[in-house]
Amino acid sequence: MAFKLEIAESEEKKEKYEMLLPQIRALIKDESDLIANLGNICSALKYSFENFIWVGFYLKSKDNPQELVLGPFQGRVACTRISFGKGVCGKAAESKMTVIVENVEEFPGHIVCDPLSKSEIVIPVLKDGEVAAVLDIDSGDYSCFDVTDKKYLELMIEKIINIFPGK
Ligand code: SME
Repeated sequence: MAFKLEIAESEEKKEKYEMLLPQIRALIKDESDLIANLGNICSALKYSFENFIWVGFYLKSKDNPQELVLGPFQGRVACTRISFGKGVCGKAAESKMTVIVENVEEFPGHIVCDPLSKSEIVIPVLKDGEVAAVLDIDSGDYSCFDVTDKKYLELMIEKIINIFPGK
């Protein structure tokens, strides 16, 4: 059955996230396939926020535990592999901490995928204390992301962590 995403009309991102998070949980609750669920989460996020130009997951590579590999995403084509420690995604994976970049041009080692990207947030997905994936969101505006995005995106990951396989 088709799922109709309701997007808050408010300009307040807090209200958008508060409307979106329960819908994301509803969207994935009857499906066990990780890729299908991550694909829908990317779409729900991208189409809820007009200035999100790229939303995607990089998953921990099965061949190399120190490397991320491109997973489901919405947006322009992107680089497929990122080593831990490299770029914004690799820094988030290495530190196991969310990284907010207000201006990607000022981030040393930033990996350019979409030249229209101006700011970025990367949230690590930690399962049993280990990095299972990262969620990467790019915006076409500078300084798009702040503590509100961090709070709600980390909460979203916490609420959906059961869809990721354990060790
Ligand atoms: N900018 C990221 C690379 C991934 S793309 O933005 C989709 C980084 O520096 O890790």
